Amino acid sequence: MKLDSKDVVRLIQTHPTSVITTVNEEGVCNAASFSWLSPVSFDPPMVAFMISPKRYTYKNITATGEFVLNVMTKHFLDEVMHLGKESFKDNPNKIEETDLGLVRSEEVEPPRIEEAVVWLECTVNGMHEAGDHYIVVGEIVAAEVDEEFWKDGRFLAEEAETLHHVDGDRFLVGGNIVEWED
Ligand SMILES: Cc1cc2nc3c(=O)[nH]c(=O)nc-3n(C[C@H](O)[C@H](O)[C@H](O)COP(=O)(O)O)c2cc1C
Repeated sequence: MKLDSKDVVRLIQTHPTSVITTVNEEGVCNAASFSWLSPVSFDPPMVAFMISPKRYTYKNITATGEFVLNVMTKHFLDEVMHLGKESFKDNPNKIEETDLGLVRSEEVEPPRIEEAVVWLECTVNGMHEAGDHYIVVGEIVAAEVDEEFWKDGRFLAEEAETLHHVDGDRFLVGGNIVEWED
């Protein structure tokens, strides 16, 4: 079955929907939701996310070159949707309208979201225009995971119940781990 171009990009949704925190030039924090993201490099550790230049987050990223990627769980879906539907441009109080807490980061100015299960503090390594989005590549300068979801050197994504965006308001959560044995 052939698909329209607007639908094809929905076919490879795998990484956990995250809230990206940034600050503007006055140091005011913003937070928005992002599903299009990917690991990029082991050494140095790098991640990328895709952003429309219409986002206020884009303005902050280009102005300050720092962000924190906060991986969220299904328990905070309301907050993820709120931060992903409201823009700081029209609603600078959008974070305060949630019950999410902000805590100081170790290496970058944007704060972490207290309720996240993974925190990746990043400095921008490069940005590449790609169609109607930009690819933002970030070098991870500090990282932490909620130890409840870390065992034997592995992240327990199925227990953390991270959100994996399918489309619109639908997310995959949990599921079965299939482990290949040599
Ligand atoms: C679940 C979800 C995932 C989203 N993923 C992305 C994304 O990957 N890239 C993007 O540019 N916008 C994405 N958005 C839209 C932004 O989060 C939204 O436009 C937000 O209002 C931007 O806020 P800001 O203008 O304050 O930065 C997503 C929204 C939702 C609800």
